[in-house]
Amino acid sequence: MRNFEFHNPTKLVFGKDTIRQIGEEIRRRGHHYVLMIAGGGSIRRNGVYDAVVRSLNRAGIRWDECWGVQPNPVLSKVEEMAAVAKKAGVDAVLGVGGGSVLDSAKAVAAGYYVDDVWGLFEKKEPVARALPIYSVLTLSATGSEMNGYAVITKEDEKKKWPIGGPALFPQVSIVDPSVQSTLPWEQTVNGAVDTISHIQELYFPGRDAEVTLALDESLLRTVVRVTDRLREEPGDYAARASLAWASTMALNGAAGAGVGDGDWATHALEHGLSGVHPEIAHGTGLGILFPAWILYCQDANPETFARWARNVWGRDSVEDAVAAFRAKLAEWGAPTSLKQLGVAESEIGAIAENAYSSGMHGSLKQLSLDDFRRILESAWDPA
Ligand code: NZQ
Ligand code: ZN
Repeated sequence: MRNFEFHNPTKLVFGKDTIRQIGEEIRRRGHHYVLMIAGGGSIRRNGVYDAVVRSLNRAGIRWDECWGVQPNPVLSKVEEMAAVAKKAGVDAVLGVGGGSVLDSAKAVAAGYYVDDVWGLFEKKEPVARALPIYSVLTLSATGSEMNGYAVITKEDEKKKWPIGGPALFPQVSIVDPSVQSTLPWEQTVNGAVDTISHIQELYFPGRDAEVTLALDESLLRTVVRVTDRLREEPGDYAARASLAWASTMALNGAAGAGVGDGDWATHALEHGLSGVHPEIAHGTGLGILFPAWILYCQDANPETFARWARNVWGRDSVEDAVAAFRAKLAEWGAPTSLKQLGVAESEIGAIAENAYSSGMHGSLKQLSLDDFRRILESAWDPA
């Protein structure tokens, strides 16, 4: 097992009917005026917004609202909201929504202290200063509710890049899995696939770390099982709660303890893809790219790939396990090729270059630009 540090400063409040606590959590930490950040309106339709407002009112918290964060959130919106935060002089930021909303809230919180928000992404240094961040999560996928990362797209250059740092961990995140029963099925699948992908990014480079490898395998099997269950019964609370907790654990440090910092080349490839094609959801892109990456990189750590095949998919070869993985995605209705998504073969070179420019080239196997291109080619129309 590799040496590791595990420090997660976020307080997670998890369970049914917990949104009512957000106001008091903010008040208790001495904050009185927040900028609430939201997406396209799902929180108005499922009662989350009303629950948040009641809670803020009860705790005597003043707030302003910024709406309209889109999936694959963009820099121009972050800049607009950071200007609102500065003008108002809020003392905290509250994201209410999915990962795109939470990531935007984090970027606004960091952007509050700088003139050039994108400069933080270019610098690639840990973000040490940001307004206090709070979140009410409505879509379990990214793990943003309990990690120090945010991913934003600079639209004019199609760069979809991450920032990270200790200041970007939320102070408190509320996860009420019951509000996720209003998710369209494909968003539930995207969340499950993102969760699977985070675990796999951490798992595949791992060796000699039995606790974490076994935990990760258990999380992977569980995510598949409970997602199957949610297809039958979207309102099954136990399954929603299991998926939500697995999703948080996938990227809050637990799934990576002792196995290193993860590979993340598949995420770089996906960010390159949805940077060029913002209509493609993160989880959808990952479902197509991860099987291709596994087949390309399995020789770099054969023992761990073999135990993944055996312990997660019950298969004797990695090829058979990848086939089972792809079959499961197809069963869930997720696309399994770039071609199916409408990506032209002629775009692959540009997507590879865009992905490569993020600087995340993998750790299990350091990939070249040519490797990126080959993986994308093999994901275009896999046999
Ligand atoms: O905008 P609204 O109206 O709220 O609708 C959203 C959105 O259309 C909807 N939704 C959310 N909760 C709902 C709901 N609809 C009905 N009922 C609910 N309870 O779902 C749609 C997608 O939301 P979005 O926030 O975009 O999805 P997700 O949570 O998957 O976030 C994806 C973004 O996070 C980034 C991705 O790259 C992508 O930009 N990531 C962030 C990471 C992090 N911060 O650690 C790591 C990830 O690897 C990832 O890169
Ligand atoms: Zn992800």
